[in-house]
Amino acid sequence: MNTQSLLSVVHLKKYFPVGGGSLFKARRYLRANDDISFDIYEGETFGLVGESGSGKSTLGRTLLRLYEPTSGQILYRGNHDKEVDLTQLKGEELRKLRSDLQMIFQDPYSSLNPRMTVGQIVEEGVATHKYYRRGTPQMREYVLKVMQDCGLQAEALHRYPHQFSGGQRQRVCIARALAVRPKFIVCDECVSALDASIQSQILNLLAELKEKEKLTYLFISHDLSVVRHISDRIAVMYLGNIVEMGTAKQVFENPRHPYTIALMSAVPSMKAEREKKIVLGGNMPSPVSPPSGCKFHTRCFMACEKCKRVPPPFTEIEKGHFAACHFADKPTAEKRRIAESNEGQTKKFL
Ligand SMILES: Nc1ncnc2c1ncn2[C@@H]1O[C@H](COP(=O)(O)OP(=O)(O)OP(=O)(O)O)[C@@H](O)[C@H]1O
Ligand SMILES: [Mg+2]
Repeated sequence: MNTQSLLSVVHLKKYFPVGGGSLFKARRYLRANDDISFDIYEGETFGLVGESGSGKSTLGRTLLRLYEPTSGQILYRGNHDKEVDLTQLKGEELRKLRSDLQMIFQDPYSSLNPRMTVGQIVEEGVATHKYYRRGTPQMREYVLKVMQDCGLQAEALHRYPHQFSGGQRQRVCIARALAVRPKFIVCDECVSALDASIQSQILNLLAELKEKEKLTYLFISHDLSVVRHISDRIAVMYLGNIVEMGTAKQVFENPRHPYTIALMSAVPSMKAEREKKIVLGGNMPSPVSPPSGCKFHTRCFMACEKCKRVPPPFTEIEKGHFAACHFADKPTAEKRRIAESNEGQTKKFL
């Protein structure tokens, strides 16, 4: 695997203000991304999983500067000799880099302008970034070429988004992103709304384009089987933090964070017949006032006194495999046994 970083995320925080802030009430913040550090390597597909509300989309959007980061650095090395901190870019500098960094969303319909034809949609970014001028034969040729690469017929050029199926609309979104020659694409639940057979067509297209155009993906999804299939490395998020990270094989075959173990046990195809599903107690706490110590302790089947007080370090268990758990060293099977004997209930372990 290439381990040259395309993006280094350093202590990134994204807090959303939620009320307060008056003379009598202190401002309160929702900590959607709460001190996140990791690298995305050039040419890899980096999968991001976690329950709804764990902060995946916020991370994807903050990396692309669609959200203003609260603090931290995002070091981008797309132009090899030069490293730029995306958090520091303004105006023209940021605009120039926009073509490098693209996003594909879950709902292709709402992210496409219904009054523009497919041709106009694909052409828009190309014209903005001044690759070709609107109305020229070169532009037309280029747009048709990108559409063809994305599996869209030439006759789609003058048609409108509503005239297409969900899968084809997602192809239009991919073509729009690809047309500006990006290096890094955030795919946020980009196949979640599609039927299984269409899902695999779009996933194949993404894989094909990645090879051909030397792209790097951040692939966000609820669907663990899809993430396992497509990702080189994976990070698991819980309540604004990455709690486990490693190669797809490490995280799926040898999960070490109790949260990851529970997530995996919920996927029927991923557990052995005899293994029980681990049901986590309670709901995800509020990211406005997260639990002390390890944020997961309120739902964890391993939690002990220390977990309530001390945030666990992000420990390297084996090369490239990290988990933020005071029991990171304890093997997966032993943790699973404890979870099963606890019937998935939070219980004092020590
Ligand atoms: N623009 C915003 N303003 C205020 N709070 C927000 C905003 N966007 C997200 N949040 C909050 O940040 C937290 C993380 O949300 P986010 O959308 O990043 O989660 P997610 O992991 O992508 O969830 P899902 O799987 O449902 O898409 C949630 O508590 C959410 O309510
Ligand atoms: Mg999301």
